[in-house]
Order: sequence, then structure tokens, then C-alpha cells
Amino acid sequence: MNASTPAPAPPHEAPADWARVRADFPLLQRAVHGKPLVYFDSANTAQKPAAVIEAVDDYYRRFNANVSRAVHQLGAEATEAYEGARKRLARFLNVRADELVLCSGTTFAINLVAYSWALPRLTAGDIILVSRMEHHANIVPWQLVAQRTGATIRVAEIHEDGTLDREALDRAMTPDVKLLAVAHVSNLLGTVNPVREICREARRRGIVTVVDGSQAVPHRPVDLQAIGCDFYAFTGHKVCGPTGTGALWARREHLEAMPPFLGGGEMIKEVSFDGTVFNDPPHRFEAGTPNIAGFVGLTAAIDYLDTLGMARIEARETELLTHLTEALDAEPGVRIFGRAPEKAAVVSFLVEGAHAHDLATLLDLEGVAVRSGQHCAHPLLQFYGVAATCRASLAFYNTHDEIETFIAALRKVRTLLG
Ligand SMILES: Cc1ncc(COP(=O)(O)O)c(C=O)c1O
Repeated sequence: MNASTPAPAPPHEAPADWARVRADFPLLQRAVHGKPLVYFDSANTAQKPAAVIEAVDDYYRRFNANVSRAVHQLGAEATEAYEGARKRLARFLNVRADELVLCSGTTFAINLVAYSWALPRLTAGDIILVSRMEHHANIVPWQLVAQRTGATIRVAEIHEDGTLDREALDRAMTPDVKLLAVAHVSNLLGTVNPVREICREARRRGIVTVVDGSQAVPHRPVDLQAIGCDFYAFTGHKVCGPTGTGALWARREHLEAMPPFLGGGEMIKEVSFDGTVFNDPPHRFEAGTPNIAGFVGLTAAIDYLDTLGMARIEARETELLTHLTEALDAEPGVRIFGRAPEKAAVVSFLVEGAHAHDLATLLDLEGVAVRSGQHCAHPLLQFYGVAATCRASLAFYNTHDEIETFIAALRKVRTLLG
């Protein structure tokens, strides 16, 4: 294997052999507090298959060098691998490689849109429409833009079942709305939003759309051309890739018109004290040394997922979600947040009489990792009138047996909490 050929994904002749797939994840074999680990926190970050870990290791062992600067062999190999990641991601998402800005993840990607696209354009009187179910990464950057420009934030509300109120959304798309920020999939509710229809409607009205794909790209086939948004952000560590990786996809015309966000090396063509000629997009937005090892790992992660097949992954996770939902529904006093007909494998819940943090802490002692708290979605919890929830989030590497272990642990924990 050389730098240009990423670590091959393991051959799964029978991709439905999920036990074999699970064995590809070294960390899932470990124990926690003396119990086999049940990792139900993949919406927070996904575990990594050996192919990803080995690809990062291989990069540092064999071709570590900086990109786009050195003419030597190692520099050429590192650059080829880094640019190869851009091409690989573009193919995965069905877009052009020169429309993909590689960055540290969704938070960076959305801030790039906020600072380079929105800040120079929005003025007092403009409205930024933000859905109620957004992660803080798709709320706070817009609040910062609003503070600086005098624009205001309008909230697109949801129904009790966790679906977007489409009629209210259409009504909210008035002529003064310049930008719509919406999640493809909610990290707290699992709701899959009909982003294709929403973006079509927004486009018809001249509204620019920013879709947060953090919880969609890891769990279902995503075709950005079909969605038809203006900007799409996602994060690599939720796609079984390394932390500190991700990308912003943007229509070329937006990238061409956007000034740089950060200045430094890599993003320039020519610098003198009289002025600087900036590089063309997407490199104009990639100042400084990037996370080369991370993108080598992300390439391996995408290869791995593609070998399994995103449609197959989606079907597997839907099956696990049904099992988990039915099992929790059978438990007395359990309240599930988010009952959208189309859901990703995320179940936020509360148990009557128990605090979310107490539940998560005691579940951890049983080897079960769930997240508790506000899930970076305060406005959504305010809608439901609760301070925190527990969230069990699954991935294709989880098993039906783990769901049974989780339910047994939940019953035990409830007796402890009285
Ligand atoms: C829906 C959503 N948006 C944005 C983010 C932020 O991603 P990152 O911290 O990788 O930038 C997350 C991560 O939890 C998320 O779930």
C-alpha cells in the first residue's frame, strides 16, 4: 500500500454478518467497570474500525509530511493523500471535489458560512430562520451574526412528536428571510427532516439554506445534489473517522464570492506588504496545516462504510431502533422524546422519578454508555419543558443482545433509585 491507496476496507462477502462487522472495532471488545461495554453513544462520537486506526498509524509511520509545500517525495505523498480525501468524500456525497472545504468539523463549517457568507451580506431587517431542533452549532453562529448585523432570528417550530411544523415553516419563509438553518437529522430526537422539499421551497423564495448533516451522513445514503441545499456541513468523527475532521460543501458560486475566514499559509497565491492574492476555493478557506492524518483516516472510514453500504447500514440501524423503542415502550414510566415517522437510531428518554444524570451514572456502572444532559440543544429541551434527558444512540455495530442488556441494566438501576 502506498500513500495514494488508502487502507483497503475489510472484505465483507456477506455484509449482513453484523457480528463480523462488530469484530472490526477493537474498542468494542473492552470491558468497563468489569462489564462488557455497551456503547450507546454513537451520536456523540462513533467508534473506529481497525482500518481507520491502521490508516492513521500508516500515515505517521510512512509518509508524514506537510501538504502543498514540499517538493520532496513524502510531501507529494501526503498531499496526494489529503487531496485524495477530498475526492473520496466528494464521490461519497455526489458532489464536485472543488466544492468541498475540508475543516475540523461541523462547528467550523457552519461558522465559516456565518463569517464568510452571512456577515458581509446580512443587514438590519433581515431574518435568519432557524429550526427549534438545531444543535447549538447551528444556532449560536447565527446569533453572533445577528448581533453584528442587526438581523433577527426567527424560530421554525416543531410538533410534539418531534417533526418540523411544515405549514408554520412555509409561513415563516417571508421575503425578509435570507437564510434558513436546518438539521438533516436531529441529534436529540432522531427526526429525519425532509430537507429536499424544504430546500426546494426555500430556493423558490430566494432563501439560502444551511443544512447540518452531522447526524445524517453517518447513518444513511446522502446525495447532496439531490438535496439541493446551498451549504451542507458534517463532521468526520461521527462517520467512524478521526476527531478534528469534517467538511463544508457549498455551491461553487457561493465559494467564489466568499472572502476568506482565516488568513495564513495555504490560503494564498501571493503575499506582499502591498496586499495578498488569495487562493481559489476551496483552498482559500483552508489556512494553515490541516489535519492530514485525520483525513487519511477519514478516507479509510468512508471506504469502510461504502464497503458495508450506506443503505444496508440504514436498514440495520432501523431494525435496532425498532427493537430499542419497543423495549423502552414496554417499561413503565419511560417517556420517549421524538416519535417522528422517519427517525435515525437515537432515543432520548426519561424515567419517571429519576434524574437523567443519575440514570446515566448508574448505567455506566453496568457497562452501558449513554449520554445524559442537554445534548447541545437547550431550546429543544425548553420546548419539552425538561432540564435534561438520557440519550441512547445506536450504530450498525450495536447488537440486539446489547439492547436486552441495556434494558436489564435499566431495570436494575431503577430499583437502586427506588
Ligand atoms: C446535529 C449536530 N450538529 C453539530 C454538531 C457539532 O459537531 P462537531 O462538534 O463535530 O463540530 C453535532 C455534534 O454533536 C451534532 O450532533
